[in-house]
Amino acid sequence: MCGIVGYVGNKKAVDILIDGLTSLEYRGYDSSGIAVNIDGKVELFKAAGKLQNLKNIVEKNYNEISKSTIGIGHIRWATHGAPTVENAHPHSCNCGKVAVVHNGIIENFKDLKERLEKNGCTFRSQTDTETIAHLVATKFGETHNLTEAVRLATREIEGAYALCVIHQDVPNTIVATRRNAPLVVGLGEGENFVASDVPALIQYTKKAMYLEDNQIVTLTPDSIKLIDIDNNKVEQKVETLPWEPVALSKMGYKHFMLKEIHEQPDVVRNVLSGKLRAIDENVVLKEVTLDKEKLKNLSRIQIVACGTSLHAAMVGKYIIEELCEIPVDVEPSSEYIYRKTITDKNTLVIGVSQSGETADTITAIRQAKSKGSHILIITNRPDSTMAREADSLVPVNAGIEVSVAATKSYTAQLISFYLIAIYMAEVKGMGDLSDLKHELIILPQKIEKVLAHKEDIQRYAKAFANSKDFIFIARGINYPTALEGALKLKEISYINATGYTAGELKHGPIAMLDESMPVLSILMSGKVYDKILSNSEEAKARNARMIALTDSMDDKLNELFDCIIRIPKISEILSPALAVVPLQLLAYYIAEFLGKDVDQPRNLAKSVTVE
Ligand code: AGP
Repeated sequence: MCGIVGYVGNKKAVDILIDGLTSLEYRGYDSSGIAVNIDGKVELFKAAGKLQNLKNIVEKNYNEISKSTIGIGHIRWATHGAPTVENAHPHSCNCGKVAVVHNGIIENFKDLKERLEKNGCTFRSQTDTETIAHLVATKFGETHNLTEAVRLATREIEGAYALCVIHQDVPNTIVATRRNAPLVVGLGEGENFVASDVPALIQYTKKAMYLEDNQIVTLTPDSIKLIDIDNNKVEQKVETLPWEPVALSKMGYKHFMLKEIHEQPDVVRNVLSGKLRAIDENVVLKEVTLDKEKLKNLSRIQIVACGTSLHAAMVGKYIIEELCEIPVDVEPSSEYIYRKTITDKNTLVIGVSQSGETADTITAIRQAKSKGSHILIITNRPDSTMAREADSLVPVNAGIEVSVAATKSYTAQLISFYLIAIYMAEVKGMGDLSDLKHELIILPQKIEKVLAHKEDIQRYAKAFANSKDFIFIARGINYPTALEGALKLKEISYINATGYTAGELKHGPIAMLDESMPVLSILMSGKVYDKILSNSEEAKARNARMIALTDSMDDKLNELFDCIIRIPKISEILSPALAVVPLQLLAYYIAEFLGKDVDQPRNLAKSVTVE
């Protein structure tokens, strides 16, 4: 939620800030702003709505704005106060000399505001962030040292934050700090950068330093100083970023989402690489550091996640229970953290997250860790907060995912679950899994076949694009696929889509069916095939518009269904990893046909760093 970027160096800061905000747009996009130093004066430029509105303002004032070689920028996902110009960051203080950008939530902002107002500070916005600007300005008045002012301010702030501050009287200096929100510093030659995430830096430098909680960094063009909140000097751990700038290009596709859907065959190959070498060899998963004896004695597994990652977790439950015979509970992180959870040393807790920064999941894993559980994290971001807190880290190697709607990271999470389950089953000596391993190895080719027939799905998308509602039904291991198909559709097309277990249809939802309601049945060969077929008959009898997604060549389906999306034959246990692809395409083409903003759907943000 919210992206921040800062630059101090020898180039036109505005170009780097706007590029940086463009690459962080996935983090929020309801308003944006920058602060630069023009002829010795801090100036703010802000706009409500999409980043393009700020770009238009910058373009009109480019001659002036481009004089500055220092600046901070922000792209917002509103928490406190509507997405207006007044509430857009940067925020300033009474004298206008301080500018602050912030990602997170200041929990004690009401108390701070009351106190600051009593001391004469005038607030212009409804945001919690503005308190930081006034607080830093007050502390600067006492210390005349920006780093010290920020340090003292953060001692009074409660909540989560990543923030960057500049001050008119301290030229060529940015002070940045974080607590429970990500921040990375990029190191250049005669220039330095700071941002919420790597995409904002990668085209300028690969040398980076991840800030830890309560560390305060002071950047000038030629220096980086790092201290902690108690004013102790901290050793700087500089690393080389593994990402390539090309990962952030659409590579000719109309949207990142379409590009990312097409990357899935290679993503599967990547995840399997080095771990599943041959069908007659055991899976190698050095990332799982849990002692093998402890693994054999696990009494239960709990998986916590949100959104699409939660659906991957639900599939994970089926796979682990099937292959390892260990009971698995799956729960949305946001629920897990507010009830009494029973965990102990014999419980493995798995956190699943594309970003590794989802606040609810971070809180859930911390809660479980404090009770002594081993924490295994499945994430696409080995540089994230969750990754750093993991006991075992299984990186999913999907590459940077830009589209807000998760696609390739979901498939990568699923493949990681197959590998983890096979690994655990082999440690426990649960029998021969060579058929499943063989199928995993040839899965990328099957996904390629599905992608090769995308025009059929595009045609169906047009036929159903004007539906107000959409129902997805499935049973067993593909119930999460139905949920994920519905989530993809609703988040990018805003159609009211719901996934049901097919057996539940007759217990209520069937009342909604008539000739205007599309019902998509996920009918994969296996033990529940006939059951779903009967449930589909029930829906057909209520005149619903029937769509099948199936690997069956059964001719009977032609009578029952108006449209059939056929995919290659696949075993039931592996079918979620293939069946989801046409559903991603269906959602994509419907949204594209409706002219929606596919990569940046309204009200959403890629990484949800608030609870
Ligand atoms: C996916 O399409 C969504 N945008 C969203 O549900 C996402 O999966 C969820 O917010 C969890 O994010 P995470 O995987 O980064 O933890």
